[in-house]
Amino acid sequence: MKILITGANGMLAKEVKQRFEKDNDLILTDVDELDITDEKAVMKYIEDCKPDCIINCAAYTAVDKAETAGEIVERINADGPGNLAKAANANKSILVHVSTDYVFGGDLDISKDYKEDDSKNPVTAYGKTKLHGEENIAKNIEQYYIFRTAWLYGIGGNNYVKTMLKLGNSKDELSVVSDQHGSPTYAKDLADIIYQAIDKKIPYGVYNSTNEGYTTWFDFTKKIFELSNITCKVNPVTTEEYIEMMGTTQAKRPKNSQMSKGKLESNGIAIPQWEDGLKRYLIEEGRI
Ligand SMILES: NC(=O)c1ccc[n+]([C@@H]2O[C@H](COP(=O)([O-])OP(=O)(O)OC[C@H]3O[C@@H](n4cnc5c(N)ncnc54)[C@H](O)[C@@H]3O)[C@@H](O)[C@H]2O)c1
Repeated sequence: MKILITGANGMLAKEVKQRFEKDNDLILTDVDELDITDEKAVMKYIEDCKPDCIINCAAYTAVDKAETAGEIVERINADGPGNLAKAANANKSILVHVSTDYVFGGDLDISKDYKEDDSKNPVTAYGKTKLHGEENIAKNIEQYYIFRTAWLYGIGGNNYVKTMLKLGNSKDELSVVSDQHGSPTYAKDLADIIYQAIDKKIPYGVYNSTNEGYTTWFDFTKKIFELSNITCKVNPVTTEEYIEMMGTTQAKRPKNSQMSKGKLESNGIAIPQWEDGLKRYLIEEGRI
């Protein structure tokens, strides 16, 4: 298959490239080669290269900065996917896009998890623009997959695990938020979910796509330290306590980011547990 990857320098894109390169013809572009906000350029590029599939890994991902960054966030996260959807539709390419748990409000009781069709109520600029991106895709093409992920970490990027390893090695104790619930997701496992979905030709549509199992940032951090033999003590704090301690303003974080993977699993997609993903990541990073 001929596959165009946009945002190819990003963290997820690096894993997507690795997963797909063996048996596909990949065309890698980032903003310098193909700016997804440029509608004409997107149409021309896709008309010229006629990919069977486009995997969009491009996004504005700085959640806190997005609150004040203005219209660029909407252009990248909403107009960009819309441009890709129009061009993919015109050229009969499949469009694969990646979205986020932030399209939900995050205030669901933590005994429950979000199903794909649950009502959306994004509370951040990032979440709102990502939801607009999903809507722009659904409006313009039928052959699409949207994989909603969360708490993503991978080899090719700065991420939460790397930050914690650094802090854990330099501090005696750390305070970590214990009232936000979700699924840490290894980018390699998400790339494999995308691969399986395309390979098995599962029905088009939206799929919650994280590693399996739920935890909190506090328990995730304890697991990172336990697996890496780091002795730093981890203290649980509430989101409110954390913001007060740090004296920072932040985009509002969802308390409940738990997304059910029932839809993917009922389509025969195997999803590893988050602890298993973390262990393989730490081995790959040479930490264990
Ligand atoms: N990182 C997370 O925790 C997380 C959580 C949930 C969802 N997601 C989603 O997963 C996807 C991948 O995230 P990531 O962490 O790999 O992102 P990333 O920030 O590592 O990479 C994004 C890439 O997009 C490129 N880009 C930005 N603007 C562009 C433009 N106008 N045209 C072309 N390319 C452009 C950047 O140069 C960068 O290489 C995104 O859709 C993101 O919203 C990420």
